[in-house]
Amino acid sequence: MPERKSVIMADLLQNVHVMEHKTAVEEERQGEAYAPFALDPNGYRKKFYIESYGCQMNFSDSEIVASILHDEGFGATRNFEEADLVLLNTCSIREKAEQTVRNRLQVFRKIKDKNPGMLVGVLGCMAERLKAKFLEEEKLVDIVVGPDAYRSLPGLIMEAETGQKSVNVLLSRDETYADISPVRLDSNGVSAFVTIMRGCNNMCTFCVVPFTRGRERSRDKESIIKECQDLFSRGFREVTLLGQNVDSYYFTDDSGENIDFAQLLAGVAEISPLLRVRFSTSHPKDITDDVLYAMAQYPNICKYIHLPVQSGNTRILNLMNRTYTREWYLSKVKRIREIMPDCGLSTDVISGFCTETEDDHQDTLSVMEQSRFDMAYMFSYSERPGTLAARRYTDDIPEEVKKRRLIEIINLQNTLSRESYKGDIGKTFEVLIEGNSKKKETDWVGRSTQNKVVVFPKNSQELNKGDYVRVLITSATSATLLGQMV
Ligand code: SAH
Ligand code: SF4
Ligand code: F3S
Repeated sequence: MPERKSVIMADLLQNVHVMEHKTAVEEERQGEAYAPFALDPNGYRKKFYIESYGCQMNFSDSEIVASILHDEGFGATRNFEEADLVLLNTCSIREKAEQTVRNRLQVFRKIKDKNPGMLVGVLGCMAERLKAKFLEEEKLVDIVVGPDAYRSLPGLIMEAETGQKSVNVLLSRDETYADISPVRLDSNGVSAFVTIMRGCNNMCTFCVVPFTRGRERSRDKESIIKECQDLFSRGFREVTLLGQNVDSYYFTDDSGENIDFAQLLAGVAEISPLLRVRFSTSHPKDITDDVLYAMAQYPNICKYIHLPVQSGNTRILNLMNRTYTREWYLSKVKRIREIMPDCGLSTDVISGFCTETEDDHQDTLSVMEQSRFDMAYMFSYSERPGTLAARRYTDDIPEEVKKRRLIEIINLQNTLSRESYKGDIGKTFEVLIEGNSKKKETDWVGRSTQNKVVVFPKNSQELNKGDYVRVLITSATSATLLGQMV
């Protein structure tokens, strides 16, 4: 997502551009990003600074880490130069993501030269992928912790404080951090992420996540509901339920009752009609009619699905081990639109996967046209060491071909987005106000249920972020709707 210097999905810088994981709201919030959160560090034993890269799961994990450190007497700082502990929560999804982290470490190296007592820790997927090798490659790193080992951070820090390098990259079959109350970092006080499951069992051949995040496991339903209730009572009005594949959420509670994702969604939606519920990510092979019906039934479950297609060609999908065909994907899109004609839809696309021909690429373009996505995150294939694709196939599409295909994909998506956003002119949407527009203090910014960013002038009415308003759309760009309150 964002190339705002931050933190959220910084690996986006990657390809040519674009909306990659950056929503216009995030763009609007630029500038807040670097700074994790402001807490008066007085009274804390030490100060820590944390930066996150990669997907929303990583951002959510940083909030768990902040909570663990908080309990250990660490206060957060927005200024890494004054930190006793600097943490980078890293992403391995594409090579560029890892490069971004290495560049960042160079910056911290300079600070450490001046302040040798400062500890540098690497968390997240790159820590898991490289393990102790990180300590050899990057001499300034003191602590390496994988995504399932954050509870051991206090011990690892103590060890590092005595001058030893410390590593814990054990993956777990059951860690969900269910009992840890995340400290909300960089929050607008309106929307929050809630992790409902961890890991992934899917083994898409291009993907490093099953290796960095381990086996799939679902979090206790009650702890999810409690966290969402708590957020609502603190004024939050939107939760996004997170998992690599939320449709395979499955939890058996103490009474032996089995809860699937559709039931979990309904449970969260029932907390209050004023609490919006979103979720990410869905897998086309797993999203069920039950989930679609739950979405249709509860007005507060947002009508928006992120459904990564990756490729529009069945042979390539098969090589990717996505376990669906082009036709299956298109039939899912049709089903979504039958049940919810107004549902927003976005996707992920990869250009130039192993053996992809021009015809295969055309299939991707045509699946995009037929699905009429509102938005897409678009990437060129980046071979990741240790993945099934790296072991089985040759990364045989030249870089310039991957890039050219990616540009064609981006150009098409820009057209589709423009059409989709222009098509909203004249419609009225319910918008949850998320804050001031960055560009103009006198405008509000929020999103429609379809996840489109809506900017509109404040009028004399007394309103606050977290309020719902109805907005008539009067004009549009390919990423923002502009309107007037009605
Ligand atoms: N669990 C989510 C995706 C997680 S990764 C899902 O299955 O949909 C986010 C996106 O990064 C993927 O959807 C894919 O489009 C992209 N991606 C993953 N590995 C990649 C690679 N090796 N090269 C390029 N893009 C990749
Ligand atoms: Fe990666 Fe596939 Fe799992 Fe998504 S579903 S995290 S792309 S292996
Ligand atoms: Fe990156 Fe790990 Fe997320 S590889 S995309 S941070 S699960």
